[in-house]
Formats: sequence, C-alpha cells, structure tokens
Amino acid sequence: MTDLILAEISSNISLRQLNTFRVKANAASFLQINDVAELDARAHELACSNQRFVLGGGSNLLFIGDYPGLVLFPQLFGKQILEQNEKTVKLRIAASENWHEFVKYCLNEGYFGLENLALIPGTVGAAPVQNIGAYGVEVEQFINHIECFDLENGQKLTLTKNQCEFAYRDSFIKRAGQGRYLVTHVVFDLCKTPKPVLTYKPLKNAFQSLSKVSPIDVFEEVCRIRREKLPDPKELPNAGSFFKNPVVTEAKYHQLISKHPSLVGFPVDSLKLKLYKIAAGWLIDNAGFKGMMTGKIGVHKHQALVIVNYSDTNGENIWNLAKTIIDKIQHIYGIELEPEVRILGR
Ligand code: EPU
Repeated sequence: MTDLILAEISSNISLRQLNTFRVKANAASFLQINDVAELDARAHELACSNQRFVLGGGSNLLFIGDYPGLVLFPQLFGKQILEQNEKTVKLRIAASENWHEFVKYCLNEGYFGLENLALIPGTVGAAPVQNIGAYGVEVEQFINHIECFDLENGQKLTLTKNQCEFAYRDSFIKRAGQGRYLVTHVVFDLCKTPKPVLTYKPLKNAFQSLSKVSPIDVFEEVCRIRREKLPDPKELPNAGSFFKNPVVTEAKYHQLISKHPSLVGFPVDSLKLKLYKIAAGWLIDNAGFKGMMTGKIGVHKHQALVIVNYSDTNGENIWNLAKTIIDKIQHIYGIELEPEVRILGR
C-alpha cells in the first residue's frame, strides 16, 4: 500500500463555482477527498467535526449564507464491471463520476435502463441520495447496493437496495442528514436487452408512429424535451425543480379539481391510502409566477418549478422568492410546497 499524504483542511473557501445557482458562500473549512483510504485515515478527525456536509455536483442545493462547518468534496472516479452475462451487467461506479456522462457511457456499451434519466445534472453518488427520477423512471429501479462511509463512526458500510428505503426524491441517506454518510460507490444492475419505458405521455406521443423504439431514440428525445423545457445551469444558473410535487388526500384532490378543473394530478401507487400527486409546476404557473422576475432572479418561463438566477450573488434572495411562492400556494390552494433543493448556510 502506498503511503497517503494527507492534505491540510483549508479554511474559508469560496463555494461559488461549486453550486449551480452560482451564489456566493464560503465554507468555514473544506476538504477534498481523492481516495477512500483518506476517509479511513481521517476517520477520527471527521467524526469530531460537529457540522459537516458532503458536496457532490452542487446542483440540488441553495446556500443562503456561509457554511459554518466542514464541507467534504469527494473526487472519487472509476468504473468497474463486477459481473456480466448475456442479459445483464453489474457495474460499480465511483461517486464523483458525472451522471450524464455515465448515462452516455452505458448507452455506448449497450447497457440499458438509464436513458430516461439523461441530462440530469450532478454526480453518480448523489443520484441515489435523492433517488433522481424523470420521464417515468427512478434510479432506485437499477440500484443493487451503495457503498458509503459513516462519518460519525468511521466505518465503511454497504446499504442494500432495501436498506436504502427509497421513496419519491428521498432515501435513508437523505433522511439521515447531510453530514452523516458519504457515498463512495454505487452498484447498478443494468440490462443488455433494450426495454424502453414510454409511460410518460410526451415520450409515448413522440414515438406513437414508430413500431420499434431504441434506447438511443429515448435518450435523444429526453435530451430534446429537457433542453426545450429546462434551463441549462451552465447558461442560466438554477437547481432544477426547486419544489417537490406535493401529495394530497383523495378528498383534497376532489376539492381542488372541482374548483380548478384544469389542475394536473394523478393517483400515487400506495398500499392503503388513496393519495394524489399534484404537479407543483401547474400550481405555481396558475398562481401567476411563471416567467416572472424580481430583481435579478425569477421563475423560468417554460417550467414554473424551476427558479432561475440571472445574476444575483445572494442566495437569501432566492430563498425569499421561494418563500413568497410557498405562501401564495398555501393561500390559494391550501397546499404546503416543500423545497426539493437542500437549503444550507443557516
Ligand atoms: N405544468 C404546468 N406549468 C408549468 C410546469 C408544469 O402547467 O410551468 C404542468 C405540465 O403541463 C404537466 C405537469 O405540470 O402536465 C407536470 O409537468 P412535467 O411533466 O414537466 O413534470 P414535473 O412534475 O413538473 C417532474 C420532476 C422533474 C422531471 C419531470 C419529468 C419533480 C419535482 N420534478 O417535473 O425533475 O424532469 O417530472 O419527469 O418531481 C428535477 O428533479 O430537478 C426535475 C427537473
């Protein structure tokens, strides 16, 4: 084993280039992790830091002030085939690989399933934490297990898919809090035979005249839809959907639909309770926010779920706009919107 040279923990580091909202925020301390062995070597020191969080691609968070604790910035790369046969492949991917590049790699290699999740910003390690999903697919469907490091007790840990307790934009790791587990690797089970998922209506419509649809067709159509509706964070800083789609009871859904017949909502698969998921984009759009601007921030003109930052440097202003939206939606529809992005810095 080579001797590890442990870098100093840096102080007062700017996070501006490490968050896709491009707001100003400094980390009181900052540590880049280049090797899993560094985590072992520093286990005690990391456990002693009383406030920490793990930064991935910075595409699902908003800093509303400086971060007073330790920011851990893993830079762990590599792809490995663990097993394969004619039909399936098991891949172990390091956490800091770029998600979209990984989706492209899979398609090129003939490993299918992730094509509906094309163009989602962020890293492979962050994907299971918030169980990314789009166009009829959620990443949990392809996860075998994840490998992480428990920062509180310095132990390596494997979480099976069941132990991940996946739910809509949620997982065991997310619920454990932002500074507890650092994901080092994700193990995926993918298919070598194409099984395109066209349950999302716009995808189904796009291909209705074709008798055969390939995963590449799906990938390209998903990229096209996303480019049309969602702003590229590199061009217009944002963090994707700012809010989650809220879930309401059947009675509440009927009450809403009788008042707002064009409301978009659909039943959620659930064992006992009859619940409905409501399109937060529809609520925000119909409350009049779509395309609005206040100061240097606004609500995207094609997708009301996305808050965009034209040129502000202060995350607090973005949070204030989000709170205005939350209050108005509560007032009009009696629904409490919950942020999908993590709010940090307080
Ligand atoms: N809608 C409006 N106005 C809007 C936006 C949407 O009326 O401004 C209506 C649409 O007409 C549609 C419905 O709301 O009938 C749902 O909209 P869409 O299909 O665009 O999906 P979404 O529910 O708004 C979710 C995810 C997206 C994901 C898409 C596609 C959440 C919070 N968001 O958005 O994920 O790409 O489905 O599957 O679940 C993200 O997480 O960052 C993200 C972009």
